[in-house]
Amino acid sequence: MMGIGDFLRNATVQKLAQDALMRMDAETAHRATINALKFGLVPSGAPSPTSLAISFCGLELPNPIGMAPGFDKNAEVFAPLARAGFGFVEVGTVTPRPQKGNPTPRVFRIPDAMGVINRLGFNNEGHQAAFERLKDRTLGEVVGVNIGANKDSEDFVADYIAGVKTFSPLADYLTANISSPNTPGLRNLQAEDALKRLLAALMETRAAQPRQTAILLKIAPDLDEAEMDSVAKTVLKSGIDGLIVSNTTISRDTVAGLENAGETGGLSGRPLFNLATRRLAQMRLRLGPEFPLIGVGGIHSAQSAIAKLEAGANVVQLYSALVYGGLEMVEEIKSGLAQAVIERRLSNVSGLTGVAVKDWAEGRIAI
Ligand code: FNR
Repeated sequence: MMGIGDFLRNATVQKLAQDALMRMDAETAHRATINALKFGLVPSGAPSPTSLAISFCGLELPNPIGMAPGFDKNAEVFAPLARAGFGFVEVGTVTPRPQKGNPTPRVFRIPDAMGVINRLGFNNEGHQAAFERLKDRTLGEVVGVNIGANKDSEDFVADYIAGVKTFSPLADYLTANISSPNTPGLRNLQAEDALKRLLAALMETRAAQPRQTAILLKIAPDLDEAEMDSVAKTVLKSGIDGLIVSNTTISRDTVAGLENAGETGGLSGRPLFNLATRRLAQMRLRLGPEFPLIGVGGIHSAQSAIAKLEAGANVVQLYSALVYGGLEMVEEIKSGLAQAVIERRLSNVSGLTGVAVKDWAEGRIAI
């Protein structure tokens, strides 16, 4: 007989649940999904085909599809997310002290474009709460911790240093997020002198830790050519381990006139895909073929995940598409990637990386 757990994991029930989630306010739906994951009401993914296994920054991932940060801000559900099929999970953004974030409502769907605008403003329970949840993990999930700065901090760089000190012992990698549009002044850290100082401080702090955890930097898609040149130059000199392209955009070109498009915040989801993918390819060309790159922004199908790899990503992440398609999308993307590996007679998914980098960088391809 079907138990209640099996019933709730059933595909039809999940379709109904997804429809119900879409009728809720976006932030309430997010909380409901976190609770469903906590209570095990989400299907386990199939084991990843060996053709999808990949090494990235010294980590062995079962597949190249990661959960982007912002979903599991407080490290509550990284284990069920890994069970649902993600190859790695990035938790956070966490700030040293807990903070409430901006007044609600602060997350908006743009249903006509499968987009999302958020101005959450790093609402999170602080370093200590996430540390407590991560410290006893035993199951071997690959978990990155995304670190940020408190809005009222007097010294943003000190907050990132605190993040490296707190999470180096137990994170698989760390991401310095300097690209959220929702903390005033944060993105100024992308400017050359500020970035040099930040990255030097991060490297120095890491060198003093007993465990040398990989550190990546996450940038905005709203940088122009000169800004990309300066970020690439600084990153290559700094000794950091990888780059994540990109965070949400402040531009609205792809959603002009649509419901909620006028809300302040960062735009993500499908309407971000072409911009974020072009920036990714442009950074790949600047950083060379070996530099570790995570591609994120607008992935909503197997085809778009493949395009992100072709534009130069070693591995990818997604978030907003799950708002519209549910967690089943992860399995759909994995199947599509495995199929592409077979059809193109490759031995591993890494063979897709960068095959169309020039076309993406020069804007000859878009989807
Ligand atoms: C985010 N994102 C995000 N990124 C980050 O580095 N720290 C964070 O705390 C958050 N928070 C957050 C909340 C919400 C509601 C959304 C939709 C997004 C950005 C996210 O990780 C990713 O970079 C972008 O959303 C682009 O990917 P998708 O969503 O288009 O797949």
